[in-house]
Amino acid sequence: MFLEVRELSFGYGNMLIPSLRGLSFGIEKGEIVGIVGPSGSGKSTLLRLIAGFERPLEGSIVLDGITVAAKDVYVPPESRNVGMVFQDYGLFPHMTVRKNIEFGLRRLKGEERAMRANEMLAMAQMENFPSRYPYELSGGQQQRVSLMRALAPRPRLLLLDEPFSNLDADLREIMCKDVKTILEKEKITCLFVSHDQRDVNAVCSRIITQTY
Ligand SMILES: Nc1ncnc2c1ncn2[C@@H]1O[C@H](COP(=O)(O)OP(=O)(O)OP(=O)(O)O)[C@@H](O)[C@H]1O
Ligand SMILES: [Mg+2]
Repeated sequence: MFLEVRELSFGYGNMLIPSLRGLSFGIEKGEIVGIVGPSGSGKSTLLRLIAGFERPLEGSIVLDGITVAAKDVYVPPESRNVGMVFQDYGLFPHMTVRKNIEFGLRRLKGEERAMRANEMLAMAQMENFPSRYPYELSGGQQQRVSLMRALAPRPRLLLLDEPFSNLDADLREIMCKDVKTILEKEKITCLFVSHDQRDVNAVCSRIITQTY
């Protein structure tokens, strides 16, 4: 198993989130798995736990054989090599579109970095706006930049939180296909959460449905 979530429990106060009460599941390397559940059911929270922005109350998270969260273990987000597309995009407001996309590519040489950034700009259909700042973009444009920023460094695990919610039907279809193609081509393991069954069906090979 590439990602193992074992008996995970979490709540923000002393009330556990029902879907995060002893949750267990696993994802094999290269799998694209979806979790569908209603608003408020804990999908974003689950991704925050896996990325390392929250610590579980109980249970553990094992990534590629290494425990990253457990009772006495906490590996910080920057050491997990996990990419995340946040539901509210989370772009760096003081950086242009190109700089946002290049953020995770700092380790590449100049030319390589520019090539990968250009590839991602094209896939986001943002090649005409590399110098714009996030506040100069529509919601859907920000969402596409956020998606490509996360994909650019080829993370070992990509967490997608409603990544197509702000796109119109046509663009949604294109993005679903493009993202699926790049995940498969680059063998990136992916966990995709959404309340939209159709988006998840279009991208994922296996779906876990929350029952509450
Ligand atoms: N920082 C926080 N502090 C306190 N409660 C929170 C916080 N973030 C989320 N919650 C609560 O935790 C529960 C799960 O929220 P979460 O955002 O994970 O749901 P979700 O499934 O992603 O919903 P949506 O589909 O609307 O994005 C909700 O009841 C929410 O109000
Ligand atoms: Mg959410």
